[in-house]
Amino acid sequence: MSRIVYVNGRYLPHAEAGVGVLDRGFLFGDAVYEVCEVRGGRIIDEAPHVTRLGRSLAEIGMEIPMTPAALGRVLRETVRRNRVDLGMVFLQVSRGECARSKGRDFYFPEEGTPPTLVCTARNVSRTTIEKRWGAGIAVKTIPDNRWGRCDIKTSMLLAACLAKEEAKADGAGEAWFVDAEGKVTEGASSNAWIVDKEGRLVTRPAGRDILRGTARMRLIDVLKREKLELVERAFTVEEAQSAREAFVTSATAIVLPVVKIDGRPIGNGAPGALSERLRAIFHEIAVVGER
Ligand code: PDD
Repeated sequence: MSRIVYVNGRYLPHAEAGVGVLDRGFLFGDAVYEVCEVRGGRIIDEAPHVTRLGRSLAEIGMEIPMTPAALGRVLRETVRRNRVDLGMVFLQVSRGECARSKGRDFYFPEEGTPPTLVCTARNVSRTTIEKRWGAGIAVKTIPDNRWGRCDIKTSMLLAACLAKEEAKADGAGEAWFVDAEGKVTEGASSNAWIVDKEGRLVTRPAGRDILRGTARMRLIDVLKREKLELVERAFTVEEAQSAREAFVTSATAIVLPVVKIDGRPIGNGAPGALSERLRAIFHEIAVVGER
């Protein structure tokens, strides 16, 4: 079955889908995106993703291209047409194409230029995910060289791609960005957490230096329900290396244990019990969408 891609109002076979060479997403990274988890063919926590998309767009001076309800229909239809059971659905919105008469042009296109909206979806292998959860991942730390608005979920992800490649070359499954004070900001595509010696969950407060993760937000709800203590503060790499547990959260990884940071094992070097429990109960709180 060929994959189906939604592009600006049409559902097309993957091979026929495309955006223009003057698209601002391609030329300037002038675009934002969202990634939602799909389980049992249903989208998880659609509302916070769509709300965050609206916020990312507002922060770059764009409007949401269609109502949240209409976006939801596109997401669901893309999931359905691609027969995704367990996987992900992606929404990409760029500021549209530069005018042909001008060619590549930094300034925003004329008012009325339609944005580019693309939606794709794909299955992920249950065995692969379960293996990752079971083994945990190693993390490599890298100086945070991203821009000052990491709260905007922009598709301008070169720093993340480079960091992930560097981590991969060292056998690590994620990169953790570290600020000038030696404190962890977040993962290249996830939020970073530790469990301290007292069993408190520590994660960086949501400012402009990190993305306000939807899984981070849901996990905070889980912690409240479980009466577990949350401390929102930045932590150093050394502190993380001597923490009881460490893990990352994202819509695709949920709660993924970190077992090594820069070669140093965390705890006994195996996924932490609390991380595993949090992942197991995460979906008791996350909102499951319609088919
Ligand atoms: N990344 N921080 C960064 C830099 C991210 O790119 C992501 C998500 C997160 C976690 O956000 P959420 O919990 O809403 O997934 C934090 C997605 C999964 C990606 O780019 O593939």
